[in-house]
Amino acid sequence: IRPLLPVDIQARKGADPLVVLTAYTTPMARVVDRHCDIVLVGDSVGMVLHGLPSTLGVTMEMMILHGRAVMRGLQRAMAVIDMPFGSYEESPQQAFRNAARLIAETGAPSVKLEGGQHMAETIAFLTSRGIPVMAHVGLTPQAVNTLGGYKVVGRDHEAEKVMADARAVEAAGAFSVVLEKVPEGLAGRVSQALSIPTIGIGAGVNCDGQVLVLDDMLGLFTDFRPKFVKRYAELGLTADEAVAAYAADVRARRFPAAEHSFADVLPSKGQKN
Ligand code: KIV
Ligand code: NA
Repeated sequence: IRPLLPVDIQARKGADPLVVLTAYTTPMARVVDRHCDIVLVGDSVGMVLHGLPSTLGVTMEMMILHGRAVMRGLQRAMAVIDMPFGSYEESPQQAFRNAARLIAETGAPSVKLEGGQHMAETIAFLTSRGIPVMAHVGLTPQAVNTLGGYKVVGRDHEAEKVMADARAVEAAGAFSVVLEKVPEGLAGRVSQALSIPTIGIGAGVNCDGQVLVLDDMLGLFTDFRPKFVKRYAELGLTADEAVAAYAADVRARRFPAAEHSFADVLPSKGQKN
């Protein structure tokens, strides 16, 4: 098995849907790697694992640390590392410098950045210099303060802007594009119009692939639940029950039992120590 590359992902346009999840740690990357095509080291890590109120406080150091952890868990899936807020918006040169760091220091083959027409020049700058870029249009969470919240993007008169953004990132050389919180009809039209795969999150079933935040779909991140999240497990509840049972066992001196303890004399053959 060899890892998938951005060119393989781009070539999947029109084939079966691309399956994408986020991961931030080695053990979860191993799980996602067994079943998915792309593992996204999203800047959602800031909210999901670090308790930040938005993705705006995420740093290059966080993305590199989690990117390295994820890469240790991958055999087949392709990794994408999110460029954090403030690491690429200033100029194509700044974006290249930081994208090159993410790639050199993690070993991942591609990066993702948020923005449409206004980031096209930067996307072209990176891709022409050896850095495959996944774009991200529609709701771009790093722009929450200018957007005024995490609202649907692309209804009514906004639809043309989303289409123009998607066309711009394709023309700039992005190998794929995330459509976040875009009405399903528009997402379908964008997917038909582009020759690169669209990956939807809250963008309906007619995208070329789907992505969710792993901790959302596992029920591990429960501070809020966007409408587009489907819960496939309730691991947060399972963890709560397990910790409660442990606490009760310790308080009642039910744990540790003999089987978890060490005998004072060497056990005879056949017995565990
Ligand atoms: O950071 C993230 O997890 C993302 C996905 C939601 C697309 O950007
Ligand atoms: Na992100």
